[in-house]
Amino acid sequence: MCGIVGYVGSREALPILVEGLKRMEYRGYDSSGVAMLGDGGIAVTKSAGRISVLEQCLDFDGTNETTGIAHTRWATHGAPNDTNAHPHCSADGRIAIVHNGIIENYDSLRTYLRNNGVECKSETDTEVLANLIGFLYKDDLEKAVKLALRESRGTYGIAVVCTDEPGVIVAAKKGSPLIIGIGTDEYIVASDQSAILSHTKQVVYLEDDEIVRVSKDGFRTTTLEDIPVTKDVEEIEWTLDQIELGGFEHYMLKEITEQPDALRDCLRGRIDSREGVVHLGGIVDISRELTRAKRLVMTACGTAWHAALVGEYLFEDLARIPTEIEYASEFRYRNPIIEDGTAVIAISQSGETADTLAALTEAKQRGALAIGVVNVVGSSIARLTDAGVFLHVGPEIGVASTKAFSGQVAVLAMLACYLGRRRHMSQQHAIEFLEALERIPEQIATVLEQNDACRAVAEAHVERDNWLYLGRGYHYPVAIEGALKLKEISYIHAEGLPAAEMKHGPIALITDQMPVVFIAPQGTQYDKIIGNIEEVRSRGGRIIAIATEGDTYIERLAESVIYIPHTLEPLQPLLSVVPLQLIAYHAAVLRGCNVDKPRNLAKSVTVE
Ligand code: G6P
Repeated sequence: MCGIVGYVGSREALPILVEGLKRMEYRGYDSSGVAMLGDGGIAVTKSAGRISVLEQCLDFDGTNETTGIAHTRWATHGAPNDTNAHPHCSADGRIAIVHNGIIENYDSLRTYLRNNGVECKSETDTEVLANLIGFLYKDDLEKAVKLALRESRGTYGIAVVCTDEPGVIVAAKKGSPLIIGIGTDEYIVASDQSAILSHTKQVVYLEDDEIVRVSKDGFRTTTLEDIPVTKDVEEIEWTLDQIELGGFEHYMLKEITEQPDALRDCLRGRIDSREGVVHLGGIVDISRELTRAKRLVMTACGTAWHAALVGEYLFEDLARIPTEIEYASEFRYRNPIIEDGTAVIAISQSGETADTLAALTEAKQRGALAIGVVNVVGSSIARLTDAGVFLHVGPEIGVASTKAFSGQVAVLAMLACYLGRRRHMSQQHAIEFLEALERIPEQIATVLEQNDACRAVAEAHVERDNWLYLGRGYHYPVAIEGALKLKEISYIHAEGLPAAEMKHGPIALITDQMPVVFIAPQGTQYDKIIGNIEEVRSRGGRIIAIATEGDTYIERLAESVIYIPHTLEPLQPLLSVVPLQLIAYHAAVLRGCNVDKPRNLAKSVTVE
């Protein structure tokens, strides 16, 4: 969702800001804008639509300002039009602000301002904040921002400039990420690492209720209550080529294709298959408490929730710990029961999803041990947890999550084995499990070789508006993930179900117009799923099967078969999901959809 980038230094700010905006495009947005701070005051340019539209309105030759702030907006209050786009200025034109998040009490603040003779032009909560800062400003921007934020309720990441303080940006955060990239005599304030990576890898992460004043000579961090804070400079582990397309047509295809390497990175140094041991440095400190947990609750949204569902099977199977999973948005509002011995695991690629963050906060307040399974180092969820395991699969740019799903399942598999070994799992069992896990990256590479077969499936059924995905056991989560992939990028309606549930309603939909994808590798429920395939076949459904190599029997039942190599059943999701990612990708391309920026979707959902 919304993105912030701000620059102070000696270079021309505008190209750096626009590049930063483009690098954050993947997050999803509907308008964008910049505010340049120069001798003549603040010049704001903003427009609805793509950044390319904004670029046409910008004068790259006529500017040499070295301070500016910029924004990509995802509409929350007010339509996505030019007026509501950020930056917003105070009525007197002295202050400009960009803002991620929501100021919940903006209406009462607006009334307060109106009663004091200050009128807002747009419908946004952000303009109210700009005016409040302007109203409270005497001769110190940092002070005015602090005063205004003390009156504001809600979440924010902000960057503010003022005509009376050239070469200065004041930034603050609460519940929305903000980092300061440190260059040589220059600083870049941003909400996303990708916006600064081409300039520096040295960063400072701002914490909630902290505020920073940045000029080209340095930065100063304090709390909203004026207490000075010393910050550590950290290094971003991502590289620039990881966030670039590198010859691929779409990020989604790049990220599907890089899954073998991404999983190698995820597993590296963490498994010793000869001894049947898992090393997870991030949970060493809580290992005893976690091993003794009486109950695990996993909470997440979207694809991460599907990975959690695989995790539920893994934890109960391997570690024999009762496990529940809960949508983060439901968990936070349903008075969850957290007893002694409950550990809550939040799963999130971005580490910024608002509902997951709030669910975790709720769990912590109720005394749960809080664990994170997160991809983005330094993200809000990663910082809030007591302990955790990073995915280390590299940045994920495509809105449709692919390699992060695989990384989440791989981490949960390692965690389940780690706990299993400390509880009921034999060393021999762990050895077999870890040997199989180690082979997964190369096996994914084999599955990727069937890209053409996956494209053929997409071609054959791309005109159908409804698809079903069915699986049993470990393949039920894969079925719902496959259906989500298809719907979110190709806009084809798709439903994923436990295969046996089909008989309780969805079977009524089966006709010769309905593609039905069965995730049917060999395993404990193979015979059962063959029975489900027969049921669909006898009603004319168009069957696509994901099956184990060598399974020729299934070819008699299915119109198309995509094969995956043999592995242990609990690890099959890591292989069977890959063809479903590819089928969805090709269907979206064939339908002419914008694969990496699907309509209405955001990569990181930072509002409720
Ligand atoms: C959005 C993204 C999904 C993602 C979900 C949860 O809906 O489009 O791809 O699975 O958020 O995101 P998280 O960053 O918490 O994993």
